[in-house]
Amino acid sequence: MDSRLAPLMTSTKGEWYTPPEIIERAIRVLGAIDLDPASDRLAAASIPAARYYTQEQDGLALPWAGRVWLNPPYGRVIGLWVAKLVAEYEAGRVTAAIALLPARPDTRWWQRLAGCPICFVRGRLRFSGQGTGAPFPSALAALGCELGAFASAFGDLGGIWRLVAGAGQGKGRQLALWG
Ligand SMILES: C[S@@+](CC[C@H](N)C(=O)[O-])C[C@H]1O[C@@H](n2cnc3c(N)ncnc32)[C@H](O)[C@@H]1O
Repeated sequence: MDSRLAPLMTSTKGEWYTPPEIIERAIRVLGAIDLDPASDRLAAASIPAARYYTQEQDGLALPWAGRVWLNPPYGRVIGLWVAKLVAEYEAGRVTAAIALLPARPDTRWWQRLAGCPICFVRGRLRFSGQGTGAPFPSALAALGCELGAFASAFGDLGGIWRLVAGAGQGKGRQLALWG
């Protein structure tokens, strides 16, 4: 990974840059990345997306389209990013997406991903430029991706989970290991 990123990769900035082995897998599933809506000049050098939005442009306020890679700013705003991703996908503007997120299944924002296959990463990811594993667990959510392709690309990193077919909202909802 680009060593120029190292000085900026502090948890205080919340810049948890995607490791190359994750982005390679995402491209395997998506084919290509049309948009990385949460980026900066240095991150853009290592995520091969056709378009990027930066904080100055405000990716939350702009339209998203095509195949999206999302590794949003962490912290309180994360729910807004997940909501935007789901809304753009449901509107048909985003055709497929993979999101790298801190695994927080207890949160309200996480529940918006209930319909998505999720890869819960075993152990802790070492984000680009970080000398050690992250202090939080990670997961990848897939929207509009072929399940077999997602499982085949990410299954070695951790179990792929999805809602059991027919399980409703709230009571009775269950997760199952796929594969
Ligand atoms: C966790 S980092 C991920 C960077 C890169 N997308 C990746 O996958 O490695 C989150 C990025 O979102 C950027 N960011 C923060 N607020 C933003 C906003 N409103 N619009 C676009 N990008 C934003 C940060 O500068 C940072 O580069």
